[in-house]
Amino acid sequence: MTQLIGISGSLRKSSLNTALLRSIDELMPKGATLSIASIEAIPLYNGDLDIEGGPPSVQALKAQIGDADGLLFATPEYNFSIPGVLKNAIDWASRPGFQSVLAHKPVAIIGAAPGAVGTARAQGHLKQVLLGTLSEVFPYPEVLVSKAHERIQNGQLADEPTREVLRKMLEAYVSWIRRMG
Ligand SMILES: Cc1cc2nc3c(=O)[nH]c(=O)nc-3n(C[C@H](O)[C@H](O)[C@H](O)COP(=O)(O)O)c2cc1C
Repeated sequence: MTQLIGISGSLRKSSLNTALLRSIDELMPKGATLSIASIEAIPLYNGDLDIEGGPPSVQALKAQIGDADGLLFATPEYNFSIPGVLKNAIDWASRPGFQSVLAHKPVAIIGAAPGAVGTARAQGHLKQVLLGTLSEVFPYPEVLVSKAHERIQNGQLADEPTREVLRKMLEAYVSWIRRMG
């Protein structure tokens, strides 16, 4: 069984990105599962608190990432980049530097936005950040959900073409993880 952990970069209850992650359960290939981890309780990074694995919420997040075969980020785009809350969670998870649970972890990125570019700029920035953590970043196919408020309604990804794109990406991502394994 290939077990993925999903992290949304939005804390909003009606987040399009969290809805996208939730819709993934039924789109996963055979023999693979996705569970969702929340970053809501992660405090602002403070090196003074980063002792013995960090605060309990950080330790729990690290354990969830460490146990997973792959990590899937669903990121919003804020001011052409990733939300601060997501960068903050990654900063915590990235310690100790180069030996963290993110090092060599197979990571994939998706994102949803109401605009036309569907998080392209944020996804590029997230890849750049992940380079610093030594994560292995899944290269292709990319999933950028533009006009996401039309495709995702009442928390459901109803748009069949987008579901098909996600299905194909998940199949390729899980095969890639298994090849690397
Ligand atoms: C501070 C802030 C900055 C934003 N900047 C961008 C942006 O650069 N590009 C974009 O496509 N959308 C931008 N948006 C709109 C978000 O894409 C939109 O709010 C989206 O629904 C957020 O994701 P969520 O639904 O998962 O919370 C911004 C929103 C906020 C709150």
